[in-house]
Amino acid sequence: MAVREILPDIYWIGAIDWDRRLFDALIPLPEGTSYNAYLVKGSEKTALIDTVDPSKEFEYVCNLVKAGIESVDYIIVNHAEQDHSGSLPMAAELFPRAQIVVSEKCRDLVQSLLEIPPERCLVVKDRDTISLGNKTLEFIMAPWVHWPETMLTYLQEDHVLFSCDLFGSHRATSDLFVDDIREIYHSAKRYYAEIMMPFRSNIRDHLAILTSCDIRIIAPSHGPLYQPPDPILAAYRDWISDEVKNEVVIIYVSMHGSTEKMVNHFAGALMERNVSVRIFNLAVSDIGEIAMSLVDAATIVIGTPTMLFGPHPLAANAAYITNLIRPKTKFAAVIGSYGWGGNTVETLKGMLSRLNAEMLDPVYVKGIPDQACLRELETMADTIVRKHREIAVSSQQAG
Ligand code: FEO
Repeated sequence: MAVREILPDIYWIGAIDWDRRLFDALIPLPEGTSYNAYLVKGSEKTALIDTVDPSKEFEYVCNLVKAGIESVDYIIVNHAEQDHSGSLPMAAELFPRAQIVVSEKCRDLVQSLLEIPPERCLVVKDRDTISLGNKTLEFIMAPWVHWPETMLTYLQEDHVLFSCDLFGSHRATSDLFVDDIREIYHSAKRYYAEIMMPFRSNIRDHLAILTSCDIRIIAPSHGPLYQPPDPILAAYRDWISDEVKNEVVIIYVSMHGSTEKMVNHFAGALMERNVSVRIFNLAVSDIGEIAMSLVDAATIVIGTPTMLFGPHPLAANAAYITNLIRPKTKFAAVIGSYGWGGNTVETLKGMLSRLNAEMLDPVYVKGIPDQACLRELETMADTIVRKHREIAVSSQQAG
């Protein structure tokens, strides 16, 4: 692979995974990803910051050899998830005198997940520092971006924030830095939606804390680095804000066409009322794209037929994931049709319990949608227009 100089004595020594197409056996990676790891050489001591996914261990070792590293004093583990810590056991063995620098929770996780003996670990607390001689590493506890043990490492003299998963993007690229935020915006937003969105309020707190640092480079654990950091910080401030767009995301599945007919009629009614619409047929849609569309949509509508006694499994899965990623969506509704009974609407409502959204009256009909059903959908569109206007007005008043 390659050793890339970021600044004098600061190097990228990670691995690019051009072929990976799935993360956590769930998240599609249409653009691959990278596992960024870093090397910081101080005048007296040397530190590694994170390692790489175990599948790329050989490339990581090659980079260490290429960088001429014969001894290491510290291995910083910002996050225990294996895409960054999976090669830690190998690195710990390769550099037996290195101390493994972790948060307290991370010490427990690297012990249970990677069998790292606790006595190898140096536990740091929020704002603790370690001197490498002419360089100082400062640790900023940042729980829940992405796990509870996560911390960030700030290199004070060079103003580099090693932000771990925060500000990452799943993109395999040979570009070390982002030249133009527009090139990476889609990937970064998708990553935010899939990984970071459930922790919106935590991120808000972390961003406030980071204002105390004079950050000039953000070096995340996935995707390219940001210099200057302002564009990605601005994007995050937008995504985590409470502002929503006049947009409805409709995710649906249809078995025999009734729900699809309802979706199409409803979408048309919304468009005629100047509401933006994104439609995802769950039979063919990428869940990452759906997650991304939910970052700033005001309303989500799930369309599903009743399958035996409840929602179609694809709709149930989508509702479950939506509940997990917790978009800031203000309103939610269920539409669809049933043949003989079931409790689809109540089941889906229960599955969306973590959403801080007002549930609108459903439009759920027996059999094929008749004229009365289509009028009900138009009424729902009217309701949505009114609700969206109300939140726009209250947002303006608050602003
Ligand atoms: Fe990239 Fe949470 O690991």
